[in-house]
Amino acid sequence: MEKKSNHFSGQLGFVLAAAGSAVGVGNLWRFPYLAAKDGGGLFLIIYFILVLTFGFTLLTSDIAIGRRTQKSAIGAYTQMHPKWKFLGILTFLVPVLIMTYYAVIGGWITKYAVVYITGQAQAAATDDYFTSFITSSTSPVIFALLFMGVTALIVYNGVEKGIEKVSKWMMPILLILVVIIAVYSLTLRHTDTSGQVHTGLQGFLYYLTPDFTGLTVPRFLQILLDAMSQLFFSLSVSMGIMITYGSYVRPEVNLNKAVNQIEIFDTGVAFLAGAMIIPSVYVFSGTEGMGAGPSLMFVSLPKVFSAMGKAGIFVGVLFFVTAIFATLSSCISVLESITANCMEIFHTSRKKTVLVLSAIYLAASAVIALGYSIFYVEVNLPNGSVGQLLDIMDYISNSVMMPFIALLSTILIGWIVTPDYVIDEMERNGEKFHRKKLYCVMIRFVAPVMMFILFLQSTGILS
Ligand code: PFF
Ligand code: NA
Repeated sequence: MEKKSNHFSGQLGFVLAAAGSAVGVGNLWRFPYLAAKDGGGLFLIIYFILVLTFGFTLLTSDIAIGRRTQKSAIGAYTQMHPKWKFLGILTFLVPVLIMTYYAVIGGWITKYAVVYITGQAQAAATDDYFTSFITSSTSPVIFALLFMGVTALIVYNGVEKGIEKVSKWMMPILLILVVIIAVYSLTLRHTDTSGQVHTGLQGFLYYLTPDFTGLTVPRFLQILLDAMSQLFFSLSVSMGIMITYGSYVRPEVNLNKAVNQIEIFDTGVAFLAGAMIIPSVYVFSGTEGMGAGPSLMFVSLPKVFSAMGKAGIFVGVLFFVTAIFATLSSCISVLESITANCMEIFHTSRKKTVLVLSAIYLAASAVIALGYSIFYVEVNLPNGSVGQLLDIMDYISNSVMMPFIALLSTILIGWIVTPDYVIDEMERNGEKFHRKKLYCVMIRFVAPVMMFILFLQSTGILS
């Protein structure tokens, strides 16, 4: 086995770095939005069941493959089965695409953090603030370049001295901040113009209570697919990132525990994000006030913060700082995965590789950041939405490539190299891999079928 100079110092460093990758805007703006849309507790139950079955299977596979092969996606798939190198290349292309726009989103968040810190909360709550910001041709570019630069600097410093070091303080602080904001939002109370009182607790119950009204088979299927695509985006699986991070885990680390902890961290933060966002939105603008995706974070929430009065400025600062940590640690993992693959392919040093990639991605980020002004396009995506450059990249990587890669990987592991390839790695130090039967059934039968359906649905073939 090739000796690697890059390693996480131990289990904690690995778990926090992997949680850093997993916890991102998916937890903060997508999970709460889906929970509110898909029947509250009903979505939660389905999601939690999927975490323990489907998410567990994909996350275990990625991490075990990484540690076993000691390589990133391209090398790892080639080593598993030379004929499947193409799948490694395809997997590598997901972060390559994601990286073009992730720093742009990070830039938007940084901008809002600055806006709140410098006391412009009121302005941010006005109707056209977000639109006029992203359609400007300077500010979004500057913030995207700044975010990209910081990401590159951390990756430049290496696995232990860069990624691990940053994750070890950012992730615990992020967790504390999310808890504080969630607790605060439960204490909210607001009397509307008709004299009706709305409380955070009511909003929290709305979030937790399963809503079965109008539950038909197609709607149930829709909720299931929503939860499934959210889950593997959320865990950063099927894009080679967890393979790369897995390749940095020392042989003596117990992977079973690590997988559980990463899942608990990611799911915990998603749940808490729902607990901080849904009650706040509910109290001040009712159940109709939940925006989807970016509009939730940049349009709905600033209005909610403004309705909170003075406290809202403070909550806004905490929230956008939390969001910066979440996005930065994810962005780092995307760049690290690309870097690691390139280092293996071109046999170049980390520093050189990061410098070249930075140049490429600074340019790419600028282009995508200008996708709402100079490079404005409007494309009808097969899933029915209309998108600009950023949405196109997001659609190709997350809706088309990820389910396809997950489908092929489950076939490769389940039927070609067989599940023992993963199981042996999970039991490397004599640990017991507890959910072995579940893992085998999932990887061979359930996951391929589910991935196939998800792929058909998200590409618009099945609608
Ligand atoms: N897992 C992250 C989230 O839930 O927000 C999103 C993500 C991170 C996607 C890193 C892709 C990625 F490469
Ligand atoms: Na996540």
